[in-house]
Amino acid sequence: MSANLKYLSLGILVFQTTSLVLTMRYSRTLKEDGPRYLSSTAVVIAELLKIIACIILVYKDSKCSLRALNRVLHDEILNKPMETLKLAIPSGIYTLQNNLLYVALSNLDAATYQVTYQLKILTTALFSVSMLSKKLGLYQWLSLVILMAGVTFVQWPSDSQESSSKELSAGSQFVGLMAVLTACFSSGFAGVYFEKILKETKQSVWIRNIQLGSFGSIFGLMGVYIYDGELVSKNGFFQGYNKLTWIVVVLQALGGLVIAAVIKYADNILKGFATSLSIILSTLISYFWLQDFVPTRQKAKLWGYSTLSTKIKIAFILKELAF
Ligand code: C5P
Repeated sequence: MSANLKYLSLGILVFQTTSLVLTMRYSRTLKEDGPRYLSSTAVVIAELLKIIACIILVYKDSKCSLRALNRVLHDEILNKPMETLKLAIPSGIYTLQNNLLYVALSNLDAATYQVTYQLKILTTALFSVSMLSKKLGLYQWLSLVILMAGVTFVQWPSDSQESSSKELSAGSQFVGLMAVLTACFSSGFAGVYFEKILKETKQSVWIRNIQLGSFGSIFGLMGVYIYDGELVSKNGFFQGYNKLTWIVVVLQALGGLVIAAVIKYADNILKGFATSLSIILSTLISYFWLQDFVPTRQKAKLWGYSTLSTKIKIAFILKELAF
């Protein structure tokens, strides 16, 4: 049963990440009139949707009794403030992380950012070993090291990158790199901390997600006020929302639920590999279906080298994707 849930949750994660990436890419190519939606408000809406979905799941677990639901929410969330407070840590770190990634994207080109951020697979493994006493076999470490090699490999400037990196000053590249490296550590730590809480305490994954989402909404609202307070008071909270925005928001909320299930039934390391798989998938769909990804000759040749690990190929593909 739990092995089924493990592969089911990993499969849904691959599907969810792939569709989110493709929808976001598609939404970026659309030309819209009027104001663009504010990503800070989208974060809050996604958190609220996650909480609503989790409340429905807890309701289902309580045999669809409103009274039982009310009791569980009271007993597990309101009456255990210290347990609830534990979730403020990963929630706060995730908020910080989202901001760091924003800093990184403003100072680095998208390809370097995407590739460097994959280092989080290694930090996640290191935190899993140190905080959860997980043991990794030789092949597992080897695949992580191959990933690292792939990432280093793509950092080597190619002709096209040299011209784009000239536009970004060395100082700003350094700031961007520091931000993304810090985000790699925060991603590894927050993920493993959440896994530790899920696996070492009795509360259900959905209750834990309600707790995480509640802090996420509070921090998110603070973000709306700080970054976009003026725009919201001028044009409203839902300015620029269209059907596609809602699809992205729902997919993001679904992502939070699936990530929680993957961390519970599989682990953070497998989560990293599943999201890498979705990168290959979205690239292939992009290439064969949307026809907006054209590999250069150099990279096309690499694609054919059978001795190169899939991970190195992913790293090269990532470099081609400029989100
Ligand atoms: O890049 P990384 O894998 O660390 O990103 C994880 C993302 O998943 C974060 O944006 C975090 O807000 C989200 N998450 C979630 N619910 C969880 C765990 C993570 O929404 N239970």
